[in-house]
Amino acid sequence: MNLIPRLKPYINYKELLAAIVPSIGAVPKFERAFANKFGRERGTMFSHGRSALYSLLKVWKLTNVEVICPAYTCVVVPHAIHLSGNIPVFVDSSDNSFNMDLGKLENTIGPKTRAVVVTHLFGCPMDVVKIQEIIDKKEKEYGNKIYVIQDVAHSFGAKWEGKLVTKYGDAAFFGLNISKILTSVFGGIAIYNDNALEKKLKIFRKENMESSFFKGLKRLAYLFATFIAFYPPIYSFINWLERKGFLNSFTVYYNEEKIDMPSDWNTLPCALEARVGLAQLKKYDRIIELRQQAAAFYSNKLKEKEGIKFLDYPSGNTYSHFVGLVENRKQWLEKYAKKGIQLGILIEYSCPHMKAYKYRKSEDYPNSSNYSQHTINFPNWPGIQYQNIL
Ligand SMILES: Cc1ncc(COP(=O)(O)O)c(C=O)c1O
Repeated sequence: MNLIPRLKPYINYKELLAAIVPSIGAVPKFERAFANKFGRERGTMFSHGRSALYSLLKVWKLTNVEVICPAYTCVVVPHAIHLSGNIPVFVDSSDNSFNMDLGKLENTIGPKTRAVVVTHLFGCPMDVVKIQEIIDKKEKEYGNKIYVIQDVAHSFGAKWEGKLVTKYGDAAFFGLNISKILTSVFGGIAIYNDNALEKKLKIFRKENMESSFFKGLKRLAYLFATFIAFYPPIYSFINWLERKGFLNSFTVYYNEEKIDMPSDWNTLPCALEARVGLAQLKKYDRIIELRQQAAAFYSNKLKEKEGIKFLDYPSGNTYSHFVGLVENRKQWLEKYAKKGIQLGILIEYSCPHMKAYKYRKSEDYPNSSNYSQHTINFPNWPGIQYQNIL
């Protein structure tokens, strides 16, 4: 029986062709086109989303200050904050959303807070208007600039009250690996309006990131391997390899006890990534339309189903994942696997509860802890025959 994968990039011969055919100036072209698509004037591409966050903190010259981020988020975010020489400070999720609780955010901002990472988890937009009000108030209270950074690694094009969340704050960053809504094979990008920030980021990148001779070839091989891996009969075998742990070097991205970055985190972006990104950008509107259709189908079908609960998903959600909360996650995964459907578990940890961050008090993050143990996500990638899933 063929297994329906939990995720699948929306790539075809166009991305393969883009990867192969050389062109001039692909990186700046991609940076500008990508920034404009998401409501900003400029962009700087990096080798990962976390490298973009790290670089922003560095060019703003933030050192040994508190940078707030969600407790329930991808652990690479506090890693980038810590490795930039700053202190990640966690805020718990709210009772009705996977995103940060705004009341707790307000109470957590203190005199040492100099930046807040606003993560729109699973594609779900936060109330960016309210967040800006909180920041303005706290800036006045403490007399400090507090940078607002939108983490849209999951939420390309998410809107709050009809306006792109990436239009708010000082900058936004995206991850562009193969599991994201749009991909450039690997990669990440920071987008913003500020001309001076543009200059600083480009200089920082030039001085601190290295060129890597084989990067283009490695990315090409990875793209072709991905293309083949998601073919239905092959995917079942890939899944077997994954379950046996043979693919750990590709799929396991963190170690409970270590704060680190991948070995290529500080390499320069390559033209192949930018060309693939440009091909993907053309498909953005279709990708979101299909994701939203899948989400509407699941919401409708699953709302009456016993044993699964959904939190608030406001409109403007671009559904990188369609996530529910279940009591016994293992049972759900096994039940669906028997039907040939792979459900996903995306963030199965709460950052402040991880050994690497045990210096933070873990009992203060009950929602993050709860969500980390009970979320599952349904395959909602563009092109999935979701009617066959439920
Ligand atoms: C919420 C969130 N923020 C940031 C990132 C960082 O992106 P990258 O893996 O490209 O560094 C991720 C990665 O998946 C993520 O899930």
